Amino acid sequence: MSGGFREAFGRDPDGVWAAPGRVNVIGEFTDYNDGFVLPIALPHVTRAAIARRDDGRLRVVSAQQAPGGGGPTVAEASLSELEPRTATGWAAYVFGVAWALREAGRPVGGADIHIDSNVPIGAGLSSSAALECSVALGFRDLFSLRITRERLALLAQHAENDFVGVPCGIMDQTASLRCRAGRALLLDTRSLATRQVPFDLAREGLVLLVLDTRVQHSLGTSAYAERRRACEEAARTLGVRALRDVEPGEMQAALARIAEPVIARRARHIITEDARVLEVVRLLDAGRPRDVGPVLSAGHASLRDDFEVSAPELDTAVEAACSAGALGARMVGGGFGGSAIALVDAGRAQAVETAVRAAFAERGFGSPRVFVAVPSGMARRLA
Ligand code: GLA
Repeated sequence: MSGGFREAFGRDPDGVWAAPGRVNVIGEFTDYNDGFVLPIALPHVTRAAIARRDDGRLRVVSAQQAPGGGGPTVAEASLSELEPRTATGWAAYVFGVAWALREAGRPVGGADIHIDSNVPIGAGLSSSAALECSVALGFRDLFSLRITRERLALLAQHAENDFVGVPCGIMDQTASLRCRAGRALLLDTRSLATRQVPFDLAREGLVLLVLDTRVQHSLGTSAYAERRRACEEAARTLGVRALRDVEPGEMQAALARIAEPVIARRARHIITEDARVLEVVRLLDAGRPRDVGPVLSAGHASLRDDFEVSAPELDTAVEAACSAGALGARMVGGGFGGSAIALVDAGRAQAVETAVRAAFAERGFGSPRVFVAVPSGMARRLA
């Protein structure tokens, strides 16, 4: 790791930080409706090796983006000239974090930064939050900023919303900065209160498989913002601060007040999804992880039919997994591609993987990436 830094910048870094990607067990699109989410951190991390500079410049290199032969490409910016929406590509997330910290009055100085990541990109596993959080934690330590992980997550989200221009919620950054190994993180996205929920699937003879379709349909970015607007419109119509404020018992009456059927379906997904998060937490607390399966599958149906953010590859992965004996499965993340998860008896994992691969081959889809999601620890300093 610091080898890559030394090669790029001709000196050693002051430190190295790692931040994980995440997979969300349940609670999709609830995070911009003040609702609940339940992510776990993955063992896959983005590492940021950083050394201070005293000239107010940021110079960033990514091991993944280095063109062969000619040495790595350096993305450069001057701290005082950072302007929202001016940078593009992966470097925008790094510049955005520096910008957001400075906007918040935190004295971030110049730095050389080397990024290296094994979080699959575009797979719905939060490679962007991992990048933001590795850099944010590094800046916090290097520039001695007194700032909590809760606040750091908000600043990373601010960077993504307002510097990069992606209107994401707070789930991914919080997951990367606050998840614990062997636990799922219950986050109330209104209060930012968290609870570590036992998620020791191995002890129960279960595994959570990630089925990465390796496709990302281009609709994703515009549809994400469009869905968010639909939810806000539904909340306005219902006269609530956010859809979180509609109790499941009041749902039918509330939906009847929304004239536009599409908007009503979007709202129904959010209201039922919040209830599913709390149901999954109740089952995990009660030591009944197997019973989580059907709740995951219900979540997928809601994302597919009411929120309409699935994709043929995701539906195929979910159907093939369930037909091969998974206890439940659903798409995860922002939708229109990326990954699904399947809750599976450990002894069935190979059969489920084989069935998903066969279904993909039969439909002419590319080969999926399949791995076991091990609930891992939060972003940390490595060196
Ligand atoms: C993306 C966003 C998150 C969240 C999910 C959907 O990952 O970054 O904030 O909205 O989509 O649950």
